[in-house]
Amino acid sequence: MRIILTGGAGYIGSHTAAVLVERGHEVIILDNFVNAERDVPARLKSLTGREITIIEADIRSTEAVTAALQAHRVDAVIHFAALKAVGESEADPLLYYDINIIGTIRLLQSMQAAGIGRIVFSSSATVYGQPDSSPILENAPTRVENIYGRTKLVMEDLIRDLARVGKLKAAANLRYFNPVGAHPSALIGETPRGVPNNLMPYVTQVATGERPYLNVFGKDYPTRDGTGERDYIHVMDLAVAHAMALEHICGNDVSVTVNLGTGHGTTVLELVKAFETVTGKTIPVSIAPRRAGDVASYYADPALAQRLFGWKATLNLEDMCRDSWRWQAKRAGINDV
Ligand code: NAD
Ligand code: UD1
Repeated sequence: MRIILTGGAGYIGSHTAAVLVERGHEVIILDNFVNAERDVPARLKSLTGREITIIEADIRSTEAVTAALQAHRVDAVIHFAALKAVGESEADPLLYYDINIIGTIRLLQSMQAAGIGRIVFSSSATVYGQPDSSPILENAPTRVENIYGRTKLVMEDLIRDLARVGKLKAAANLRYFNPVGAHPSALIGETPRGVPNNLMPYVTQVATGERPYLNVFGKDYPTRDGTGERDYIHVMDLAVAHAMALEHICGNDVSVTVNLGTGHGTTVLELVKAFETVTGKTIPVSIAPRRAGDVASYYADPALAQRLFGWKATLNLEDMCRDSWRWQAKRAGINDV
């Protein structure tokens, strides 16, 4: 298939691009580079051996996006482009409504104008808010707890509505749990802007010496060791899931909403220990108060993805730590990996 990836130069999009090319699909990236490095296309080329067409455009520019979709006669869209920082969304809600919600409406309009009816969308486990229990099934209640989460739920609803009334032929809302890791080549990975909010990028920056220690946000949660528990998933497993979901919905013209996680919970201290074991680095920690808005524990029930399109995570916590470290160490010019 020929696929346009909005936000395809970003963290998850670039890994998905690599996997799609490997599976024989043709990939076109549409990105405005607001949160992507300019050399990602070149790095993807050295990884895949293929020139990937890059269209520099904003998803809100219906003219440019419609023209791109028509010119390349694409079969489907994978929609990654969005802003994703919870704190920033609370500080500037209108920016998030504009890029995430209006941006998605504009993209859907462009798709309709170009006659493209198949989409895979990057949703998030954030739509479950504070879940009643884990493992979480797709039919668990959705709850909005911040502006970012609101935009993800609205975007999912828009896509489900259009599929229900037949304006989309096929759609997949993919609810990612906690993506971490990098391509094993260390050619692509995650580059957070400024101080990382998320755990794994913070840990890797402590390991390189860029940050002195990790603040562990809360040690009084009702979990095994009192620290927050999450379902970390390797970005390569996530990338493969996009390809399989795409092939499933396009092959059957169906619409689905699916969790993408491993089904296993890991606490903050367990992740730190695994990272230390795999890398031989010491990660000093300091216990800090709970972070506002954090959930004690959540992890996926990923059985539906396996049932529908045969996907199951194959990489474990050690793989996630090793590949996160390899990427960050290379960026920091450390050669011991
Ligand atoms: P990312 O920021 O690395 O990638 C997003 C890409 O979209 C970037 O390359 C950015 O330049 C581009 N972009 C942003 N606004 C755009 C616009 N208006 N027009 C065109 N391009 C635009 O983020 P990511 O981690 O790869 O996340 C991809 C998607 O997955 C996002 O929708 C995010 O909300 C969702 N998601 C991410 C996580 C996570 O932990 N990384 C978890 C759940 C869901
Ligand atoms: C966060 C976002 C969520 C988003 C997800 C993307 C919040 C409240 N939630 O989720 O909406 O979808 O990122 O991956 O921002 N931790 C520390 N010290 C740190 C950083 C994190 O102890 O410096 C802990 C957290 O308290 C949590 C765990 O590590 O228990 C994971 O945190 P993080 O990587 O930020 O992910 P989420 O909180 O799950």
